[in-house]
Amino acid sequence: MVDTSDEWISTRTGIKERRIAREDEAASDLAYEASKKALESANVRAEDLDMILVATITPDMIFPATACILQDRLGAKKAAAFDLEAACSGFLYGLSIGSQFIATGMYDTILVIAAEALSKIVDWQDRSTCVIFADGAGAAVLRPSNGESKIISTYLGADGGGADLVGVPAGGSRLPASLETVKNRQHYMKMKGNELFKRAVKIMVQAIEISLERGKLSPEDIDFFIPHQANIRIINAVVKRIGLSMDKVYINLDRCGNMSAASIAVALDQAIKENRIKRGDRVLFTSFGGGLTWASMVVRF
Ligand code: ACO
Repeated sequence: MVDTSDEWISTRTGIKERRIAREDEAASDLAYEASKKALESANVRAEDLDMILVATITPDMIFPATACILQDRLGAKKAAAFDLEAACSGFLYGLSIGSQFIATGMYDTILVIAAEALSKIVDWQDRSTCVIFADGAGAAVLRPSNGESKIISTYLGADGGGADLVGVPAGGSRLPASLETVKNRQHYMKMKGNELFKRAVKIMVQAIEISLERGKLSPEDIDFFIPHQANIRIINAVVKRIGLSMDKVYINLDRCGNMSAASIAVALDQAIKENRIKRGDRVLFTSFGGGLTWASMVVRF
């Protein structure tokens, strides 16, 4: 499709393979599969959900919310439902919002899903983006903690000054869809990858430091690290700066590419299934993405 090579993609990004949704599959279809598995593994019925929160930058449509489409499909009749857009930080933003509703006692059972069908918004003629992004979904059920498991600390950040670095220019209220916008390919994602790369390492390291400080922890206290999966060179640089050993770091971008909000959610599921995380481990999650947004969270698993 474009002038590229396996060699360029693997050495510059670390990606070897990825998953692409079928033509007839949308974000809510991926979210539905992930939700069913999360509910089953948590032994929770959809009818018992108080809230459904879908983190996505590729909703089925501008509105209604993908979370509402999912709520109907799951039969989660009493659940409030809404979407959250924080690009690659969406899952951590979602966990943070959901956990606040639980902490205040307002809700008891919340489903947080990160679902992306990025293949639908990348420009398959643009080699700087079409080799990186992929589709996927992950979900988690949040409930009050009655033991050691808990969210130890959270830090969320944003800088709208970097809004022009990655996004989809047309199709919103600023540049509504028209023949002209379609002709100019403005409904596809545009990204200044190099500029984002430079900011990503610095911001992720700062975010980690703040979340560790809030949890009164040092890097040695971290048993496992799941970073956002944008580029292996970004992950290596972040890990080196905070002084973690690479065997404590989970990588799935070689198999899954960059799934934006879904990257960390899917990685968490894979790490659990591969027995990389034990009960009681302190797990660090850190993300950086469009908006700009970033987040870092420490969880006692
Ligand atoms: N195949 C071959 N050559 C390519 C390709 C490709 N697929 N893509 C770009 N190139 C070329 C460029 O044209 C350029 O050529 P030139 O030197 O002749 O001009 C050269 O490779 C280097 O281009 P750079 O953009 O400088 O490449 P870089 O090493 O920065 O890698 C990448 C690009 C992988 C995008 C990297 O910058 C990156 O990972 N950035 C971070 C992305 C990110 O974190 N995004 C935020 C999250 S995404 C979200 O929020 C949805």
